[in-house]
Amino acid sequence: MVLRVAIACDHGGFKLKQEVVEYLESAGIPFQDFGTFSEESVDYPDVVLPVAEAVARGECDRAVLLCGTGIGVSIVANKVPGVRAALCHDTYSARHSRLHNDANVLALGGRVVGPGLARDIVADWLETGFEGGRHARRVGKITAIEEKYALRRS
Ligand code: RB5
Repeated sequence: MVLRVAIACDHGGFKLKQEVVEYLESAGIPFQDFGTFSEESVDYPDVVLPVAEAVARGECDRAVLLCGTGIGVSIVANKVPGVRAALCHDTYSARHSRLHNDANVLALGGRVVGPGLARDIVADWLETGFEGGRHARRVGKITAIEEKYALRRS
């Protein structure tokens, strides 16, 4: 199965996004770039929401989001039901966010990790599958929490 990958950043993640884009191109991994496309200041909630919604609707399988720390983009993405965003600055966490949490969004801080490590993190994260089993039960409980609060709001 060919993964449908999305990528997006704010100005703080722009330089590292370019590195990740180069990696995806060199690895032949198709992706959709939602911007931003320069270091001009933008508000990360504005760039994250369309990507998180695309993941939640199933239009993308996975997304990589970048800001200065990775924190802002991960907070915003996790507000959208169906998104499980993991902020990972090491390959162990990146692999386990897939194996155990079925993370569908990877958050990275452009001011935190260098390009070489970021490429390894992205590569491991995209290649790793979900282990299922007891982890599926736990992920199911996350979905149940989303449903509980969605009902309260409606
Ligand atoms: C922008 O300066 C910075 O606040 C943003 O990129 C991000 O780190 C927020 O979490």
